[in-house]
Amino acid sequence: MTGPRGEITLQTIAMPADSNANGDIFGGWLMGQMDLGASVLARARARGRMATVAVDGMEFHKPVHIGDVLAIHSVMEREGRTSMRIAVEAWITRQPSGDHLKVTQAVFTFVAIDEAGRPRVLP
Ligand SMILES: CC(C)(COP(=O)(O)OP(=O)(O)OC[C@H]1O[C@@H](n2cnc3c(N)ncnc32)[C@H](O)[C@@H]1OP(=O)(O)O)[C@@H](O)C(=O)NCCC(=O)NCCS
Repeated sequence: MTGPRGEITLQTIAMPADSNANGDIFGGWLMGQMDLGASVLARARARGRMATVAVDGMEFHKPVHIGDVLAIHSVMEREGRTSMRIAVEAWITRQPSGDHLKVTQAVFTFVAIDEAGRPRVLP
């Protein structure tokens, strides 16, 4: 299996408050972490405000457990006039086994916006 694609843009730990009735972590929480992680890259490139406009190809490969260390890996795939397409992978490290697994992937598109919330040309 190949390793993670892209730099780590966010790391956190899955906590009990993020879990569902099965004891696994909510998909919505994971999507939120991916959005945040990708936005670190987008914000740096846009040098200012931007908004998420689309999420494509969201795939949940494996469940996340409480206590897993979650790393969000992001890579810029394409820059448009105002938009940025960023590929995101979420990987966990699970103790005590030390297993390192890809749990989720998606492509996030962000648009640089001005103070009025209108698209802004990337600097
Ligand atoms: C982001 C927003 C300002 C863009 O406005 P818009 O009128 O769609 O802008 P445009 O049609 O001019 O498109 C702007 C860019 O976004 C891209 N884009 C728009 N919709 C897209 C979509 N569904 N998927 C991928 N790219 C998209 C366009 O291709 C264009 O890219 P380019 O300038 O690099 O060629 C507007 O859609 C918005 O405010 N959305 C809500 C954002 C938000 O609140 N996000 C948080 C969700 S909780």
